[in-house]
Amino acid sequence: MKYQFPKNFWWGAASAAHQVEGGLDNDWAAWEKDKAGELAQEGKNKWSKEKVGLFPEISEPANYISGRACDHYHRYKQDFALAKQLGHNATRISVDWSRIEPREGDFRQEELDHYYSVVTYLREIGIEPFVTLWHWPLPVWLAKRGGWKNKKTVQSFVRFMKVVVKKLAPKVKYWLILNEPEVYAANSYFIGEWPPQEKNFWSTWQVLDNLIAAHRASFLVIKGINPDLQVGVAKQMAYFENGDRGWLTQMVLKTKKFFWNDYFLDKTRDCLDFFGLNYYFHEKTFGWMVKNDDEKRSDLDWELFPQGIYNVLLDLKKYNLPVVITENGLADANDKYRTWFIQESLRAVARSKREGVDIRGYLHWSLTDNFEWNRGFWPRFGLIEIDYQTLERKVRASAGEYKKIIINGIDV
Ligand code: FCB
Repeated sequence: MKYQFPKNFWWGAASAAHQVEGGLDNDWAAWEKDKAGELAQEGKNKWSKEKVGLFPEISEPANYISGRACDHYHRYKQDFALAKQLGHNATRISVDWSRIEPREGDFRQEELDHYYSVVTYLREIGIEPFVTLWHWPLPVWLAKRGGWKNKKTVQSFVRFMKVVVKKLAPKVKYWLILNEPEVYAANSYFIGEWPPQEKNFWSTWQVLDNLIAAHRASFLVIKGINPDLQVGVAKQMAYFENGDRGWLTQMVLKTKKFFWNDYFLDKTRDCLDFFGLNYYFHEKTFGWMVKNDDEKRSDLDWELFPQGIYNVLLDLKKYNLPVVITENGLADANDKYRTWFIQESLRAVARSKREGVDIRGYLHWSLTDNFEWNRGFWPRFGLIEIDYQTLERKVRASAGEYKKIIINGIDV
């Protein structure tokens, strides 16, 4: 049987400023320049010989410097025109804080105008913009002051986002205030792999608390500008599966779910019009251990478990909010699994929808290949391939298969 998605379903892909735009001068860009050599060495040690053979960039420092990235800042029209040809009617972008406020209180009109042109173009070609206000990098002046660890950052963020929302509101209805707050807090302040590379439990909590405060305050600001604007968060959720029925497993699962999936939401539920779901991970849990079947794995060795989105979506029912899938995808340079992955994901989405989850859209990660944070350029997440030498764009076959589902629906 074919499942047809509703006519007004949002179809598209997602991206983030730092990963595609190029020419940025924020705390991540500074950190990359500093760490590239180290990251290349670490990459060489971390990955198998076979992997480094397939992706020689892993051991090259240049891979770890975002630099001009995809030059999307100048080529956005080309990228979105391609998205249009691929059947998309929505897209997710983010604005970069350091472009707009490179020094404290110094707001750059020309950069606000740039983003205004981007969303105007999207509207002109019939693509609905979903705009993320913070997708991780910070202006250098703010990072120097302690970034999200500093309570003052909440006020600074609110001042910044207010300027952006006021400017873009005539063209943008859907807003995602933050991207994956716990992922940022954990990687930057607990595991310490991302800038500023702290490893401190209390800092992690402080950061998370400030992000919650920032979300809540920003929600009110957006509603103050125009109550019709729709506010969400792009939130990672993992499918934590019961490996066995033992009490320890139940306890561990509950704890993981609480911290990773639910904590931020419980504190912001009253400040959300919709929920943005980023789904990548599944953990089959046996006591303290995670043992996934790993039948298929992406180039980053992440298990591919697209069907798990069903379990996460059903669990979201308790929040009683419309859901837009704001990220879901895989690193797959040869496009070996992407078509299968998209089909399985959308089959699971269709199933959840039929079981009463109010799902409004699906935005694949990502429109083009891009700069994957501390891993750099070698992981290829794009529906569109980028040749980083020539910056040529080449549509992958899976993008065409995705378009077929957009037009015809999916067999369930
Ligand atoms: C998510 C991030 C996104 C991208 C994907 C692969 O956690 O939000 O920027 O890096 O992972």
